[in-house]
Amino acid sequence: MRIVLLGAPGAGKGTQCKRIVERFGVEHLSSGDILRKERAEGTELGRQAQSYMDSGGLVPDELIVKMMAEAISKTDKKGFVLDGFPRTVNQAAELDKSLEQSGSNIELAVNLNISDDTVIKRMTGRRSCPECGAVYHITNLPPKVDNKCDNDGAELVQRPDDKKEVVEKRLDTYHKQTEPVADYYRKKGLLEEIDANTDADKVTEILFKKLNDIAGT
Ligand code: AP5
Repeated sequence: MRIVLLGAPGAGKGTQCKRIVERFGVEHLSSGDILRKERAEGTELGRQAQSYMDSGGLVPDELIVKMMAEAISKTDKKGFVLDGFPRTVNQAAELDKSLEQSGSNIELAVNLNISDDTVIKRMTGRRSCPECGAVYHITNLPPKVDNKCDNDGAELVQRPDDKKEVVEKRLDTYHKQTEPVADYYRKKGLLEEIDANTDADKVTEILFKKLNDIAGT
């Protein structure tokens, strides 16, 4: 399975990708998670990405394309779900070129549609586990014990780019630079749309129906 999950910040890409991994056994490749790891490890790439991420802008295409091509090359035959990449039409075209070179392709792109108002509410309430990466929401998807991860009990944290003013900038960047990526896949006949304003379990149910066709289950 080789799929792309598209959607605004807070559309629920990360939340749904974790469920896809559990159900279909594919690898979850999140460009945002990889960049945050690079930053935490103090690598040259992490240092270069820092100012773009903190301001809500996009990290330059050439850095991202190389980073994601490398990550994809390490996946096995079960495949992958891409989260947060491609985020520009140029990234999508470069991804296609790089897959073609290895005789591969994207099978499906799913766009999680969400209103800007819902994005602001979700992002400001998001908390995540610094140890295992599990994602919660203070009211929509709360942990069992207040502010502690269900998996390992670690203290949950808020992402620095989830402050309201940065979220607004990320949304602006999304509308200008990332929305056209959905059209790129629509023109190729590869796009499915899901209303993601609804609760996470409902989104998963619709998503899995679409993915079952590809997985042949
Ligand atoms: P990245 O980490 O990719 O952030 P994003 O795309 O903005 O997406 P998020 O992770 O914020 O949201 P999500 O859709 O995964 O939502 P989640 O499931 O967590 O990128 C960060 C930065 O890195 C970018 O700004 C950029 O600078 C850089 N970058 C990354 N990729 C790049 C690229 N390709 N090119 C250039 N730069 C790049 O859910 C959000 C919250 O809502 C959670 O609290 C969750 O519990 C809750 N929730 C989820 N679903 C539901 C639901 N259905 N109902 C109610 N609550 C829900």
